Amino acid sequence: MNPPVYSARLAAEMLKVPAKALAAAMDKQSYSAEEVWELRDKLAQHPPSVGNRKQLFLNFKGGTGKTSLSTSYAYRLAEMGYQVLVVDLDSQGHATKCLGYEGEEFERTLLDVLVRKVPVSQVIQKTPLPNLDFIPSNLSMSTMDLSLMPMAGREFKLKNALREVEGRYDLVVFDAPPSFGLLNLNALMASDDLLVPVLADFLSFHGLKLLFETVQSLEDDLGHVLDHVFIVVNSFNATFKLAKEALEALKEHYPDYLLPKVVRQCTKFAQASSEGVPVFVADRDCKGAQDVQALIDLVLSRLVSAREGAQKMRAG
Ligand SMILES: Nc1ncnc2c1ncn2[C@@H]1O[C@H](COP(=O)(O)OP(=O)(O)O)[C@@H](O)[C@H]1O
Ligand SMILES: [Mg+2]
Repeated sequence: MNPPVYSARLAAEMLKVPAKALAAAMDKQSYSAEEVWELRDKLAQHPPSVGNRKQLFLNFKGGTGKTSLSTSYAYRLAEMGYQVLVVDLDSQGHATKCLGYEGEEFERTLLDVLVRKVPVSQVIQKTPLPNLDFIPSNLSMSTMDLSLMPMAGREFKLKNALREVEGRYDLVVFDAPPSFGLLNLNALMASDDLLVPVLADFLSFHGLKLLFETVQSLEDDLGHVLDHVFIVVNSFNATFKLAKEALEALKEHYPDYLLPKVVRQCTKFAQASSEGVPVFVADRDCKGAQDVQALIDLVLSRLVSAREGAQKMRAG
């Protein structure tokens, strides 16, 4: 992925300042990601705090958009000024690819952290955005579940390993593989929030039942309660009658979790994944980018209001 260059208009928009204020702080035709990041401090334009949150994109079904959405979501949150870490949990290394890298380039993955006790800080990689880092994945990760199996405290390895760095990031975003195993159990245990991309079809609908049962047993057996669960309908095409019916069924069965906006079907996602870039890099203004932005805005508003609510409670 090439380092992004922002026009003055875009940089001002990202920093939420008038063009004049931007020019007064640093007068240029275009701005690098580093310069925008510097200007955030200079102009004191930081986004509202969400604490240090860990968020998992999970669905046991493949092809629902976990990777497309999680990498675009993380990339955009970084552009909005959050410190973000993407953790690629899938041995196919698709999130790594969507950020512009080949998993096989990297000697170390999360396997070294969880199984061989390498500190997590040693596997974190930088991206062209100064405040977006990632942990790569490759085929070596496919032995993870077997390696974890005989270990004591095997469900808590990821949660514990991340303690070293969690204060550094506003958001840690996990891209999960479509499987039902120990690594995903670790990811659930390490997460505060769950984001579930689903397609508006009835197979996805039935798959959700298993996911919710798993979340429930996490609570009952391991004592871990997620703060938020968000279901996001992805790749929605309103011209299909079945898609509309499936959306209605989701609304009826999961009213508390289903986000009120969908991510529409958008060919730019395919283009983005083939080019190894997040959708915002492929086309900043496409439907997909607009919808991921709307997803972010919805999630952030819930997080910020939950945080304010908790603070008020504490203050009495
Ligand atoms: N909103 C969308 N519109 C069109 N295609 C999409 C959309 N979201 C994802 N895709 C495509 O669907 C395929 C599966 O998406 P992916 O993110 O890899 O799913 P998962 O990680 O859940 O397996 C990819 O080819 C991707 O480009
Ligand atoms: Mg994937």
